[in-house]
Amino acid sequence: VTKPLRIGLAGLGTVGGGVARVLISRADALAMRAGRRIVLTAASANVVRDKDLDLSSVSREDSPLALAARDDIDLVVELLGGHEGAALELVEDALSAKKHVVTANKALLAHHGGSLAALAEENGVALSFEAAVGGGIPIVKAMRESLIAFDVTELKGILNGTCNFILTQMESTGRAFPDVLAEAQELGYAEADPTLDVGGADTAHKLALLASLAFGTAPDLAAVSVTGIEHIKPADIAFAREFGCRIKLLGAARLNDGALEQRVHPAMVKAGTPLADLEGSFNAVVADLGEAGPYIFEGRGAGRGPTTSAVVADIVNIARGAIGPVFGRPASSLVRANPTPLEARQGRYYLRFQVLDAPGVMASISRRLADAGISIDSMHQPNRPPGEPVAIAMITHEAQHVAVRRALKAIAASDNLFEEPCMIPMENT
Ligand code: NAP
Ligand code: HSE
Repeated sequence: VTKPLRIGLAGLGTVGGGVARVLISRADALAMRAGRRIVLTAASANVVRDKDLDLSSVSREDSPLALAARDDIDLVVELLGGHEGAALELVEDALSAKKHVVTANKALLAHHGGSLAALAEENGVALSFEAAVGGGIPIVKAMRESLIAFDVTELKGILNGTCNFILTQMESTGRAFPDVLAEAQELGYAEADPTLDVGGADTAHKLALLASLAFGTAPDLAAVSVTGIEHIKPADIAFAREFGCRIKLLGAARLNDGALEQRVHPAMVKAGTPLADLEGSFNAVVADLGEAGPYIFEGRGAGRGPTTSAVVADIVNIARGAIGPVFGRPASSLVRANPTPLEARQGRYYLRFQVLDAPGVMASISRRLADAGISIDSMHQPNRPPGEPVAIAMITHEAQHVAVRRALKAIAASDNLFEEPCMIPMENT
């Protein structure tokens, strides 16, 4: 009889509580899938928030680090969060002790993925992270195991459920940003520190991991250019509709002649396309494989259910004996690509200026744009009584990112503006 796989679970919050429930309540079904029993042997958490979770068969450790030291544990599930401190120490200790690790911690892997992958391979154990990207979507497995006959040339996606929930709720209900963010937190979508979600860092963590899986590069978080959604106003959401678009927080990566572009920013996406029409906490990833692509993966991207699904899938895969290289290639082969700066990007841009509706204001904005070689494609200015503040929105023809930034700086320095200009790239999807 094959020996059971014995699990030590660190963290019993939104995700950990869900994983504990499934491991206990669906033990027979999982044993059937895995070909051996999977036993939740020990757990560690500051508090158990699920009052009805029966952990009577599970031994408890005060410190999560104790899980890595126990002889009766084969696999440690890290669901504490954070890219350093207890999470990092636990994963390093567990791998060094030749225990498999499953984690949902994209921050940890985006910061330390290269060295942790090397440690896992050195010790002949798995380090699996399906839940770290795209919630329940099996995108890591697809990138690691399925999309390999041809090179991925480009990938882009909506990778943060909290931001997609906020943007779609603001659009469909007119609710204010802080109110919708509070609901995303209640629903278990947001990070313990939600500035990671709305500031774009969480999307950057996931993008760095996807880029590594896609292009065989070491995760390079520092090279991701990141803009979040905090500056998006209801006016931008309304203007997007006027221009036939929806605003989405995108993560996009492309390897071109050995140079890697990784960017995270809100983008104007043409309505009616799969990424533009993605609602609520859903995530989607579009991967292009040249002659064999593109492929689109979509599903629930955040919250207890989808994340638990991905963590448990990793555990069952390991129970079956799947211990491949962490990023789909040997850790020693992961290369460091030259980053392509966002400033070099050529594209069209949505611009919004909050100005005083007075003679010459529009002319002054157009002149500064023209001085930077930027031409306006279309424009929208709602009616207002003269002398009142008004928002002017426009879309430019193709321009270089750095030129647009320079023009906006000059415009922002004028007396006519009430707030910083807003700039959102138009995205071809
Ligand atoms: P959470 O609800 O805050 O749960 C974290 C758990 O870990 C809590 O039980 C917490 O205890 C415990 N913990 C943290 N540090 C600890 C320490 N040093 N010692 C003992 N216990 C400690 O977070 P979560 O949403 O479950 O997220 C867990 C991980 O999954 C994170 O890496 C997150 O990025 C990732 N993830 C989350 C989602 C999602 O939708 N929520 C989706 C994908 C990935 P206290 O509550 O007492 O602090
Ligand atoms: N906070 C993350 C999100 C959780 O909203 O997408 C899933 O990784």
